[in-house]
Amino acid sequence: MSSRHEATAQPSACAPSPIYSRIVGTGSYLPPKRWSNEELVAWLAERGVETSSEWIVERTGIQARHFADPDVTASDLGLVAAQRALEAAGIAASDVDLIICATSTPDMVFPSTACLIQQKLGVHGSAAFDLQAVCSGFVYALTVADAMIRTGAVKRALVIGSEVFSRILDFKDRTTCVLFGDGAGAVVLQASDRPGIVASRLHADGQHANILCTPGTFRGGEVLGDPTLKMDGQAVFKLAVNVLDQVAHEVLGAAGRQADSIDWLVPHQANIRIMQGTARKLKLPNSRVVTTVDQHGNTSAASIPLALDQAIRSGQIQPGQSLLLEGVGGGFTWGAVLIDY
Ligand code: ACO
Repeated sequence: MSSRHEATAQPSACAPSPIYSRIVGTGSYLPPKRWSNEELVAWLAERGVETSSEWIVERTGIQARHFADPDVTASDLGLVAAQRALEAAGIAASDVDLIICATSTPDMVFPSTACLIQQKLGVHGSAAFDLQAVCSGFVYALTVADAMIRTGAVKRALVIGSEVFSRILDFKDRTTCVLFGDGAGAVVLQASDRPGIVASRLHADGQHANILCTPGTFRGGEVLGDPTLKMDGQAVFKLAVNVLDQVAHEVLGAAGRQADSIDWLVPHQANIRIMQGTARKLKLPNSRVVTTVDQHGNTSAASIPLALDQAIRSGQIQPGQSLLLEGVGGGFTWGAVLIDY
């Protein structure tokens, strides 16, 4: 006679096969106005802010970033990235039943940027919401969409990261204003009978909220506090390198894999030294790190999908390869997603 344990361990002939999610299309968009370091340095100098291209390149690896025009919003950038991802996937916007937009620079307090993108796509009825985990936003959003697909709640999701960080920069603060840029990236995630997203892990620790924040808010129709980005760069740097290494091993462990199985590390593009430091700890050569920070700066929640899309479209990333996406940002938040592309 079978024990209760043995009975449950036997797969039933009628058991439904597990549902996984796979990336079936990617897209990205950068606002046309590109600011080289030299242009930004000259513009800042006119306003009495002293910096240099050499300092920016040496400390961060950033050579240029894009800034959106004043009337362009996160939903405008996210819309184009989403349209490109849908085109790459060969599906219509009406085929999508979930839209998540990761952003910390939404068009308005509400409705969500995701709802505005849905309206601009000309479709109605799909679930749509924003997810705010700052620079970890995209790995958070991807993990949520993957979970919803695995439960069978949705079949196709648009996962977007879109930011206009230029809106929250203090251009009198040279320690932050040279680091960030605007942009958007998106993926279409689709239900599949074989794994695309293999494992993911997310974390947060609110005790570090003050090392990276935009503390202003609204009250009585007035802006209360400072609505521009504040950062303790060295504290962020140290924490980022540690947590990125920890979460990389955690997600690899969950999948039963070793670091040398990773074909491409696709990290949040904050600083080349953090990215290469993470790769070094994983014993991965820099040649296996997708790098766009030099041309985009830090685009927060948009940085990973932007880098992913560029590496796929350029042919760097090939079908069948193993990707480790890693995000870290304000909150403090961090997370990783392991993908068989
Ligand atoms: N130009 C010239 N000099 C500068 C500039 C600048 N733009 N900014 C700072 N300095 C000066 C400082 O005033 C300081 O001068 P001092 O020695 O005379 O006091 C000197 O440069 C060194 O400053 P540090 O802050 O020690 O420089 P550091 O090497 O730590 O680099 C940086 C600063 C690039 C910010 C680094 O700490 C870093 O990258 N941190 C992580 C940032 C990050 O990843 N942020 C994104 C997180 S994602 C998110 O959620 C938004």
